Amino acid sequence: MTNSAVFHCPACGTAYPADRPIWRCDCGGHLNLEPRPGLRRADIDATDASLWRYRATLALRGPPRVSLGEGWTPLVARRWEDVAVQFKLESQMPTGSFKDRGTAVMLNHLLEVGVGPIHEDSSGNAGSSIATYAAAAGLRCRIYVPAAAPRGKIVQIAASGAELRTIPGTRQAVTEAALAAVGESFYASHNWHPFFIEGTKTLAYELWEQLGFAVPDNILVPTGYGSNILGLDRGFDELTRRGEISRRPRLFAVQAENCAALAAAWAADAADYVPFSPRPTIADGIATVKPVRTAEVLSALRRSGGGVAAVPEDEIGPALKALGRLGLFVEPTSGTAAAALRQLLRDGTIRPEQTTVVVLTGHGLKATDKIGELLGVS
Ligand SMILES: Cc1ncc(COP(=O)(O)O)c(C=O)c1O
Ligand SMILES: [Zn+2]
Repeated sequence: MTNSAVFHCPACGTAYPADRPIWRCDCGGHLNLEPRPGLRRADIDATDASLWRYRATLALRGPPRVSLGEGWTPLVARRWEDVAVQFKLESQMPTGSFKDRGTAVMLNHLLEVGVGPIHEDSSGNAGSSIATYAAAAGLRCRIYVPAAAPRGKIVQIAASGAELRTIPGTRQAVTEAALAAVGESFYASHNWHPFFIEGTKTLAYELWEQLGFAVPDNILVPTGYGSNILGLDRGFDELTRRGEISRRPRLFAVQAENCAALAAAWAADAADYVPFSPRPTIADGIATVKPVRTAEVLSALRRSGGGVAAVPEDEIGPALKALGRLGLFVEPTSGTAAAALRQLLRDGTIRPEQTTVVVLTGHGLKATDKIGELLGVS
């Protein structure tokens, strides 16, 4: 660890020492953390059964001040479509979603640089993650969520003692409410802050280690803004530069066809965002209309040799039910990744003999209202 981390703005090229609470560049663009050296196998703290076993590669100044034991989630082998698959249970994080990877690292950075009260907007999972970690750290916190967010996520935010603001209308309206509050408290946005991706990069290290210091052929991730895709790209990039791996897994961003910004850009062979018409989807966690780092997510997917899979709405429920029958109880957003694997196996993009990881990003208990409807449970 070192205190020499640097933020860089891809839009205007400005660099900032990462020693102050900022969430974007003065030009309005998003910031990224400059590449880090990464770690070698020998640098892993194998006594720590959490993501902090990779502490040596994180751009923090010191040991974590707040942790709920996040990371080191199970990688479970199952058969899907009669093919061997590894399911990564990010749903078993402290708050029930993968967001805890990004939140834990981002919040520890914010504590190091002396942030005060924070606020955040979210479809629900990042909000409940940040509210929970803020409570654990003793920080005051306000969370903006869509009024239509799953009740489990809203209740979870309330349980942390955070101030809860439910906003009617679109997900974009929720973001605008949070932007309007900039100045009242620090905008600890998981979609903007580069330290969130510094946290999600530990997913790459974990898969590499859990697979016996080898990388899989394919990784499928339910994707809206792309924090896991960018984290995986960053982590595998570090491992490549360290000489620990010699090839990269193909990354597949999985989207709900009804709201698929990345799929629209991919289909147009575009390097950046292209406008599209969003429709409602049961996959609330990935109903993203305008990802902050669209161009970077697209280029990470291209660099990996992977792509984007868009799942029709009527295939999400059956995939969720089939996962349940395998003992994997996840929220509808995560069901999309299993549905996408079905699609990619059928069209030959993924072959049965390959090693494929499906990332299950959120727990079923987050969305029992919607799952109950799908199952016909009254
Ligand atoms: C369960 C779940 N999966 C996936 C995602 C997508 O994450 P990202 O928007 O960073 O791609 C979210 C985001 O809210 C989520 O809640
Ligand atoms: Zn800038």
